Amino acid sequence: MIGVLVSGTGTNLQALLDARLPVVAVASNKPGVQALERAERAGVARAVFELEDFGSREERDLAMAEWLGGHGAEIVVCAGYMHLLTPAFLERFAAINVHPSLLPAFPGLDAVGQALAAGVRETGVTVHFVDDGVDSGPILAQETVAIEEGDTAESLYQRIRAVEHRLLPDAVRVYLAGLVRS
Ligand code: GRF
Repeated sequence: MIGVLVSGTGTNLQALLDARLPVVAVASNKPGVQALERAERAGVARAVFELEDFGSREERDLAMAEWLGGHGAEIVVCAGYMHLLTPAFLERFAAINVHPSLLPAFPGLDAVGQALAAGVRETGVTVHFVDDGVDSGPILAQETVAIEEGDTAESLYQRIRAVEHRLLPDAVRVYLAGLVRS
C-alpha cells in the first residue's frame, strides 16, 4: 500500500493511479493544489499538512506519518513533493522520489534549466530512495533523455515528463514486487 506526497500538479500521482498501483492516501504540504483534485477524483483519502499549522517540521512529519500509516500506507512516494523529509519520517517509511535529471547531476531546483545551462547533450529521469540529503539517496532506476538542438526548458521538460510518467510507476511496481517476495 502506497502513500503519496505531493505539492503541485500531480501528474506523477496520476501516472501511479493510472497504472493501478495501490495508492491509499495522498498528503500535500499545500492546500488547493491540482494533485489533491486528482486524489479526490480517484476516491483516494487526502489531507493537507501545512508547515505553519505545526510547531516544527518534525511535528508536521510525525502527524503526516501517523495519518499515512493510519490509512494503511507501507511505503511513500514523493511525486513532486517540495519539502525535505525529517529523519524520524524516513525511519518509519521507505520513500521513493522522482527527479528530472540523471542524478547525481543537477540535484535540487530547476534541474531542467541546470542541464540546459550546462550545455550537456543528454539529461534524464532518476527514481531514487529518499535520504536526508537533497536528491541524494540510492538510485532505483534511470533513463536518459537526449537534449536536442533548439530545445527550450519547456520542450525538454515535456519529453522528460513523459519518461517520468512511465519510469516512476515501473520502478515502484518492481520495488513492491520485491517487498512481497521478501
Ligand atoms: C516532476 O517533474 C518531478 O520530477 C519533480 O517535480 C515534478 C512534479 O510534477 N520532483 P507533478 O506534480 O507530478 O506533475
